[in-house]
Amino acid sequence: MSLITAKKLFERSFQQNFSLAAFNVFNVESLQAVVEACEHEKSPAIIQISSGARKYMQDEILFLDYVKAILEKSKCSFVLHHDHIKSVEEAKKAVDMGFSSVMFDGSALPFEENVTRTREIVEYAHKKGVWVEAELGSIPGFEDEVFSEHAKFTDKESVNHFIEATGCDSLAVSVGTAHGGVLSAEHLPLHFDILEEILQVRRGYIFVLHGGASMPKELINKVNECGGKVPELKICSETDIAKACKMGVKKVNMDVDNFLAFTYELRKMLIENPQIYDPRKYLKCGKDGFKEEVIHKLKNVVCSSGVEVIE
Ligand code: G3H
Ligand code: ZN
Repeated sequence: MSLITAKKLFERSFQQNFSLAAFNVFNVESLQAVVEACEHEKSPAIIQISSGARKYMQDEILFLDYVKAILEKSKCSFVLHHDHIKSVEEAKKAVDMGFSSVMFDGSALPFEENVTRTREIVEYAHKKGVWVEAELGSIPGFEDEVFSEHAKFTDKESVNHFIEATGCDSLAVSVGTAHGGVLSAEHLPLHFDILEEILQVRRGYIFVLHGGASMPKELINKVNECGGKVPELKICSETDIAKACKMGVKKVNMDVDNFLAFTYELRKMLIENPQIYDPRKYLKCGKDGFKEEVIHKLKNVVCSSGVEVIE
């Protein structure tokens, strides 16, 4: 199947009743982890690249060509999406670079400005058959190059108007999730009442959750038992994210749990094998940890395991 359009993949998600997991990749190992996990689970996924990942890879064109070549070879279906873009120019550039789906994050802008800029990107992108995800409301926390101090829950009254006025194909909403976790004793509450009202506004539309990882205490503890000093950050629980998918959320972005799993396996490998200095050996361990976490999300959160027919 390899690279397909977002439209086609989301149509399938309704027909076969699953949601889509979206994972950021930023190097060879993270890409291998997601592709291997999807092949193991016979699952599609959305592969995301952020502005930070492009900078990290330095030669963004070469990295993009590499990602595309790996995805094209796979038997699973993938959509190549550019995560969080903050300006109209950058969004148009991402369209021109060959992403088949882009996210314009105008969440920090006043409503009308968000509408105007999103619409300009949609007009540009649609001429080239590219899908546009927008954001309404604001998700707190840090992610890559994106930061917002406070949550501003999505106002259900504006949802329809925003979608009609911009023509965006999917919409990220703020209902309690956070980017990368915040200091808190308990998991953050996911506001199902607000989510349900938003879903009711437009049944069959693609609503998206960012900040869908859950930073499980057990995983943070494992990292810290191997010498890490990761604070006990909290986001919404995995059970709540899975429930949101069952209710009708069709795309969930989840990253930090993959990072924790990678870090744990890598730390453990180096502690248990201090004689090892070949990076391929310890990076493979990190990659396998990342892969197991992705398998877990596909199976238990978005329930997209087994939907691919692979001979
Ligand atoms: O855009 C990416 C995400 O929103 C990932 O956030 O790693 O906090 O779940 P997360
Ligand atoms: Zn995000």
